Amino acid sequence: MIELQNAAYNYGGGELLSEVSLKLAPGSFHFLTGPSGAGKSTLMKLCYMELTATAGQARVFGNDVRNMTRDDIAEARRRIGIVHQDCRFLDHLPLMQNIALPLSVSGKDVEAEKGNLRELLKWVGLDHQENALPQELSGGERQRAALARAVIMAPDVVLADEPTGNVDSEMSQRLLQLLIELNKMGKTILVATHDLALIRMAKSQVNIRVLRIANRRVQLAGADL
Ligand SMILES: Nc1ncnc2c1ncn2[C@@H]1O[C@H](COP(=O)(O)OP(=O)(O)O)[C@@H](O)[C@H]1O
Ligand SMILES: [Mg+2]
Repeated sequence: MIELQNAAYNYGGGELLSEVSLKLAPGSFHFLTGPSGAGKSTLMKLCYMELTATAGQARVFGNDVRNMTRDDIAEARRRIGIVHQDCRFLDHLPLMQNIALPLSVSGKDVEAEKGNLRELLKWVGLDHQENALPQELSGGERQRAALARAVIMAPDVVLADEPTGNVDSEMSQRLLQLLIELNKMGKTILVATHDLALIRMAKSQVNIRVLRIANRRVQLAGADL
């Protein structure tokens, strides 16, 4: 689905990530960990094609990102659901419309999708909040809303950057369950987190791989978590 081969990224102050090779096979569930500032979000952006590797190669659905046109990238992104670290909602729109945004942006008939939208809100436990504005939601509700928006287009891949940032452990567990359900549906999942407790929780429930960023390199972590 997504593959990096000897990829590097440099914002201008030297390489932040070097010689990164990883492969997200269909249906796999990966965690990406490492200290704050290690480059987790940067690596997620390479996967989402928000950034282009400054050396080496990134392939998304088999295509070398460097050879993709804007249209190719837009099309590939429709198959990738993303939960941004900062959620990024439009503050003036009620929750239902925020979650429907990817549908309206891609020209779909939102009215016709109302049933699906309600089902999705119910799935994340926010069916009673469809008219709430983003700022009226709690941190955990916003994170669940962000996950609902990420999957509204039925993506093959879900990238979640710190999906449990600022929520308590009960809510983390709830979000994790949603991610596990998506993985069981066959979706390829990559979750960036510095929360080792979350990774341990996941490990006891489902088959995951843990990638760790250390000294600019990404390594597959052993059983020592
Ligand atoms: N747009 C940018 N320009 C320059 N430096 C950046 C930019 N975005 C992130 N960085 C730097 O890259 C490093 C890694 O950031 P990030 O990928 O967000 O790490 P993490 O998600 O692991 O905390 C940080 O030192 C950060 O300041
Ligand atoms: Mg980050």
